[in-house]
Amino acid sequence: MYYSEDLIEEIRLRNDIVDVISGYVKLQRKGSSYFGLCPFHNEKSPSFSVSPDKQMYYCFGCGAGGNVFTFIMEYENYTFPEAVKFLADRAGIELPSQERNEQMRQQQDLKTQILNLNKQAANYYYYQLYTENGTQAMEYLKERGLSAETIKKFGLGFSNKYSDDLYRYLKKKGVSDEMLKQSGLMNVDERHGMYDKFWNRVIFPIQDIHGRVIGFGGRVMGDGKPKYLNSPETIVFDKSRNLYGLNVARTSRKRYFLLCEGYMDVISMHQAGFTNAVASLGTALTTQQASLIKRYVEEVILTYDSDEAGRKAALRAIPILKAAGITAKVLHMEPYKDPDECIKAEGAEKFQERIDKAQNSFLFEISVLEKNYQMSDPQSKTAFFREVAAKLMEFEQELERENYIEAIAVHYGVGFENLRKMVNQLAMKGYVPKTEEYRKERKVPEKEDGMKKSQRLLLTWLIEYPDLFETVKQYISPEDFTEELYCTVAEMLYEQQERGELNPAKIINYFNDPQQQRQVAELFNTTVLVETKESLEKAVKETIARVMENSLSHRTATLEPTDLAGLQKLVADKRKMQGLAKMTIHISDRR
Ligand code: GTP
Ligand code: MN
Repeated sequence: MYYSEDLIEEIRLRNDIVDVISGYVKLQRKGSSYFGLCPFHNEKSPSFSVSPDKQMYYCFGCGAGGNVFTFIMEYENYTFPEAVKFLADRAGIELPSQERNEQMRQQQDLKTQILNLNKQAANYYYYQLYTENGTQAMEYLKERGLSAETIKKFGLGFSNKYSDDLYRYLKKKGVSDEMLKQSGLMNVDERHGMYDKFWNRVIFPIQDIHGRVIGFGGRVMGDGKPKYLNSPETIVFDKSRNLYGLNVARTSRKRYFLLCEGYMDVISMHQAGFTNAVASLGTALTTQQASLIKRYVEEVILTYDSDEAGRKAALRAIPILKAAGITAKVLHMEPYKDPDECIKAEGAEKFQERIDKAQNSFLFEISVLEKNYQMSDPQSKTAFFREVAAKLMEFEQELERENYIEAIAVHYGVGFENLRKMVNQLAMKGYVPKTEEYRKERKVPEKEDGMKKSQRLLLTWLIEYPDLFETVKQYISPEDFTEELYCTVAEMLYEQQERGELNPAKIINYFNDPQQQRQVAELFNTTVLVETKESLEKAVKETIARVMENSLSHRTATLEPTDLAGLQKLVADKRKMQGLAKMTIHISDRR
């Protein structure tokens, strides 16, 4: 870490978490906490909580949580040092200037280093494109209709013909093999050692929402195979959480995005003025990408390829978008293959017309479905309508459902009442539509380990009812928390309690990884339903007993026969455990 613990803590204290998060999420006070719609998953009723006392946030729906640094890291996709800088600026705290010495550079966290490396590689590829070596690549891009301005704007580049060009360049700059390996820029195999992943290809740098280069795509110039190579996933490149072109599209101020699959398609659309185009990164659309899109727009127009594969991809994307609360429409591309071809052939104006005429996603799904049936055969036709009726159940609101029933009845020339009856019959049989299943599947929490939960509960109570500490510490010491992370956190919490300065959000500062920060937040936000103070007191007592018992049996199982001190402590604790039954617990109000 760059900065002193005290400085980090000062920055945290000067950025009240409710203030900061209010800038991103609409919060409403409910009891001692604030609630709002979680920005990290999609939901209709608020389960995202922000506690001014704990200076922490936690989502009871998806488990996202942490302190103000975690929030900024997760929401803005920042590294820890970037989040520190952001919040220091916000609070008007000046950061000490850093000496860029060798030692400090080594201290930079891995993520920052890999991002830096990607930047150097992107610059190198970019530079190559404008040298003599890059002539063929430049011609290729021009031939594909890209203007000099577009090529610059997307930072396109060229990887030289030799398979060790970038390797040698970065080695000269003193980058270690280990770092190169982690960057995804190199291939490693036994026969050839380490060599460039991309060579003799046109390079598409992939940027995150802040314009930082997180990975690359490389295309052969012509018909070679594989057509595209993509960077592997790395510590900075998560293909399921980023979209190509989003750094530009998010500022396009359109109320919808154009979603496609190819880098070239995005670039073509942007060049034609459709700067709201984005693409997934060589894989099918994910729920995380849909959530990301939902941060900016509520509608997506699918501009996938018009072939069978594109149709399938659209069918897969529609329910994912829908579950994220996004309205999807499908653009009719025929007779062209993809947006790039379509725009080249017809121009921007015609493409806009196609956007305006994009088909409602439900009607698109139905039209694809229809291809599986022979509409001239009464039996097949009936089966088709049965399937349509089942799909119509996806609409929870009656009015919406009726509107669709009507649209379909009119389109296929069948009676509205007949179709409606079919739908209602299915409803009566308790049929569950597919999207519902999908939604449920996403919400099911991971299987809870009861023991872990008891340990978390105890930690949560210790910060919510600090008075409990005097009692709890008589029975439970930090080592009794058998999960390693829990034990570490308990140690810090006990230490804070002893000093009489409870500060859970500070504990989070000690963890670098947002994944761990989230787990710590969960430790401090575990709840059970208890209605009265008496039942809470009973629950606390039972939980202490459970945690103790678990620790005792764990220690009994792992005790070395020669460990006399351990044995004595075990016997003493067992006796204490028996005494627990007679103990009464009094809880004063929350702090
Ligand atoms: P052009 O032929 O250059 O116009 O490509 P495109 O933009 O039309 O892309 P296409 O529809 O062929 O593919 C869509 C996306 O799938 C690309 O942007 C790549 O991310 C990925 N892709 C395509 N071909 C390959 C391949 O051979 N290997 C891998 N790994 N990914 C590919
Ligand atoms: Mn194409």
